[in-house]
Amino acid sequence: MKLTGKEVVLGVTGGIAAYKACEVVSRLRKLGASVHVIMTQNATEFVQPLTFETLSNHPVVTDTFARPETWEVEHIALAKRADLFLIAPATANILAKMACGIADDMLSTTVLATKAPVLVAPAMNTGMWTAAVTQENCATLKSRGVHFVGPASGVLACGDTGAGRMSEPEEIVSEAAELLCPRQDMQGLKVLVTAGATRERLDPVRYMTNDSSGKMGFAIARAAQRRGADVTVVYGSVTAEVPQGVEKVHVESTCDLYDAVTGRAGEMDVVIQAAAPADYRFRETFAQKHKKQAGEALVLEMVENPDIAAAVGQMKRPGQTLVGFAAETENLLENARRKLDKKHLDLIVANDVTKPGAGFDVDTNIATLITHEGVKELPMKQKSALADDILDQVMALRHQA
Ligand code: PMT
Repeated sequence: MKLTGKEVVLGVTGGIAAYKACEVVSRLRKLGASVHVIMTQNATEFVQPLTFETLSNHPVVTDTFARPETWEVEHIALAKRADLFLIAPATANILAKMACGIADDMLSTTVLATKAPVLVAPAMNTGMWTAAVTQENCATLKSRGVHFVGPASGVLACGDTGAGRMSEPEEIVSEAAELLCPRQDMQGLKVLVTAGATRERLDPVRYMTNDSSGKMGFAIARAAQRRGADVTVVYGSVTAEVPQGVEKVHVESTCDLYDAVTGRAGEMDVVIQAAAPADYRFRETFAQKHKKQAGEALVLEMVENPDIAAAVGQMKRPGQTLVGFAAETENLLENARRKLDKKHLDLIVANDVTKPGAGFDVDTNIATLITHEGVKELPMKQKSALADDILDQVMALRHQA
């Protein structure tokens, strides 16, 4: 995607992830965008303004009262010239100021004045991110239309593990590019996406499930919605944030998922099944907590669940595009191809879930796209970027049909 002629104002706040903002500037410039950087005083403790000046080829603004080079009021001029206002990293402090309308430095003043779309990439300690006040501030900003990318989860600079790591520059720039030049190639299409794990209950306190977080399916739902589709997401147990602006249907078991998907599939143009439904359920379930019999093994019988993708494949009508996933631990291509045929799919996204950086509950995936015409092996990438690759392939298949 080319961003020639687009102006991005990048706010950099004071966190260790400030160094990653350098790559954000480089990537945006490589795509042709012009980048103007505003740093908070705290950010200058982490990275020298000269670094951003050199990378952006523009003076860096840090001080509201610096003598301007032109007679424009600088924060208003920057606020007006922005096609996109990006803040990366965005600390808990700037998010709180934005939520409350506090304007006490160059960055907070300028973002308050802008009419451009605003995208923030939060980065902070996991305790600060999960604090009720931060979550409330984020909800307020989202309700006002501020876009968020991340944060990702993992080991943080402070040594803690959890949510709070700034998204990778590649993902931030991809989100920025979509906001600057939104593709609307899926306008008028009805898309159903499944996401997350199903739960098969044994009794009121126990169930069988898997590690699906919903990240992959939700990334696809978000991308399809951004590209103009009318999206329904049917999801089971998830830890990822449920997308906004889509129709949401929450289910628990594979049988519930079957009912929700088969009941809606007929009216859909595209059905993408990224959920990880349990293949089996308990033959017998208990209304009360099943009591332990000391010293005795517990033998539970399981029965097969319906195959939702296969059922949707049976009902397939002309003009529909059906996409499945294959979560494999061996013989990736062979097993995935078998599922492509058996479930009457047009495309299967094969992922070897044993590979580091692929599969369940991580922000990246390593996928091979298999159609009846060919195989496309993709490198490890953010699930948000893979989502767009899958949708590109879906649109190519629809144009061929
Ligand atoms: O949610 P994340 O943490 O981001 O993880 C992503 C993921 C690993 C769950 C995702 O990338 C993925 O691989 N999803 C498919 C998981 C799965 O159930 O794979 P499978 O090979 O067992 O099933 C093949 C296809 O049939 C899938 O499209 C699945 O949704 C569907 N299926 C499976 C069982 C069943 N009873 N009915 C189905 O429709």
